[in-house]
Amino acid sequence: MPDTTPPKHIAIIMDGNGRWATQRGLPRSAGHKKGVNALKDVVKFCAKEKIEVLTVFAFSSENWKRPKQEVEVLMDLFLSALKSEVDELHVNNVTLKFIGDRNGFPSKLTDMIRNTELQTENNSGLKLFVAANYGGRWDIVQACRHLADDVLNGKLSVSEIDESRISDQLSLSECSEPDLFIRTGGEQRISNFLLWQCAYSELYFCEDLWPDFSPAHLQKALQWYAGRQRRFGLTTQQIESH
Ligand code: FPP
Repeated sequence: MPDTTPPKHIAIIMDGNGRWATQRGLPRSAGHKKGVNALKDVVKFCAKEKIEVLTVFAFSSENWKRPKQEVEVLMDLFLSALKSEVDELHVNNVTLKFIGDRNGFPSKLTDMIRNTELQTENNSGLKLFVAANYGGRWDIVQACRHLADDVLNGKLSVSEIDESRISDQLSLSECSEPDLFIRTGGEQRISNFLLWQCAYSELYFCEDLWPDFSPAHLQKALQWYAGRQRRFGLTTQQIESH
């Protein structure tokens, strides 16, 4: 029997912006702009459907290797999207937080990120995490460094290091792990997104390019999720007799 509890936490790799634009003879930046619109609709839908947490991959640690001009377009887009959307997010009771390494972002952007986080921090609705300059391996490394520091400073012994202490040092430690992981754009890989946190997530891959992804597509993913049985290492019989 599938577990019909809706996901509390959805994580999305928003892939396919570039291809969406190229297919239309447009510059890749047009795909990213359209991608912001798709994200707005998905955020509104999640807020309305009482999803607790939405985490989206906006810029990976590896994306710095893209052509300089595309990186600049993305930085400008993050800045303008934050400026234009922060008030509406606030009115919709959304808390916005960024995860990832903030070093390397233009200072105008880091200031805007900080202001947006402050403005929305006491909201009680959907928690929206934007992963920017984020990598799952980076996340695990920074957690290890924190724990190593604690050992060096005598706050922790090596034998006390366990899964829960590592989880506590990772991004998103304040919320439950993603139940549903979605990647648009036809690729079927995790691409260094939430490596530790997605250990038990249900993985949903679809062909739709991100700018085309709408709440109706998300509904379809939710229907698919409702048919999954989450076993967390147990047998079907154990789950069903519980
Ligand atoms: C992947 O498509 C998409 C990105 C690297 C950028 C995603 C960013 C947004 C949708 C904007 C989000 C904005 C805020 C403020 C959170 P791709 O370029 O890899 O597409 P391709 O695989 O077709 O080349």
